[in-house]
Amino acid sequence: MKELEIKKLPQLPFDMTEALNQLRINLGFCGDQIKTIMVTSSVPNEGKSFITMQLWKMMARVGARALLLDCDFRNSEMRRKYGISSVNNEKLVGAAHCLAGLANIEDVIYKTNIPNGYMIPVTGSVANPNILLENPNFSRMLEYCKKQFDYVLVDTPPLGSVADALNMTHHCDGSILVVRSGKTRRKVVEHSVQMLNRAESPLLGVVLNRADIKGRSNPYYHRYYHSGYGYKSGYPYGYRRSRENDGPSHSRDKKNDE
Ligand SMILES: Nc1ncnc2c1ncn2[C@@H]1O[C@H](COP(=O)(O)OP(=O)(O)O)[C@@H](O)[C@H]1O
Ligand SMILES: [Mg+2]
Repeated sequence: MKELEIKKLPQLPFDMTEALNQLRINLGFCGDQIKTIMVTSSVPNEGKSFITMQLWKMMARVGARALLLDCDFRNSEMRRKYGISSVNNEKLVGAAHCLAGLANIEDVIYKTNIPNGYMIPVTGSVANPNILLENPNFSRMLEYCKKQFDYVLVDTPPLGSVADALNMTHHCDGSILVVRSGKTRRKVVEHSVQMLNRAESPLLGVVLNRADIKGRSNPYYHRYYHSGYGYKSGYPYGYRRSRENDGPSHSRDKKNDE
């Protein structure tokens, strides 16, 4: 397997780590059938890629084989922001190559310098990724990844901008919605929840990102967490979907008990 290196991964403060850890553990409780998880938001810059990267790293650190699938084909900043490059200076190939039939799935999965952490990068921008996403290769790719990994975290474009993320919902087991605290309007978030609802994508959690802990202005945040990084498990605005009766699954969380 080819390898890539992630050179810049910020260390998080304790409270952020804790909130993310709760998110990870709660995802484990969603059941073994939840493996492919889309991380999305309403608008750009809410922190989707940041959360995807940190959650992925955390899953890998506790021993789960975790794959980060970058599907922000139009605007991925992962390579630049996190200093991602191939170990042998080989040309990177990514998901778009596989979807377009230019590479085999095995050739676009990279081992990384995070033990248990694997990645399918985006290597260049694609003008019209919908064609790729509607291609049967996309579901084939996800089915393959599902078999190979404990978790597949899919970084997506925002729901409000283009149809790409909605297209992906059909192939993923559920979604995490990232909301930038104090910035994204409630109506906009509600609209995103409705979109996910209509697409029948179980909403596995909402991350209230960049919450202002000093300002004490956000009752939503204060009700749940005392960290700079709220995570509310489950369903906002009284929204609750079908998986609530699924019993907790411990198989992927065994390592957490250590
Ligand atoms: N909780 C956070 N703490 C600090 N910086 C953050 C946090 N969330 C996001 N950022 C930063 O905000 C910017 C936008 O985040 P990003 O993940 O790229 O957004 P998106 O993928 O939703 O467009 C990035 O520079 C990222 O590093
Ligand atoms: Mg992003």
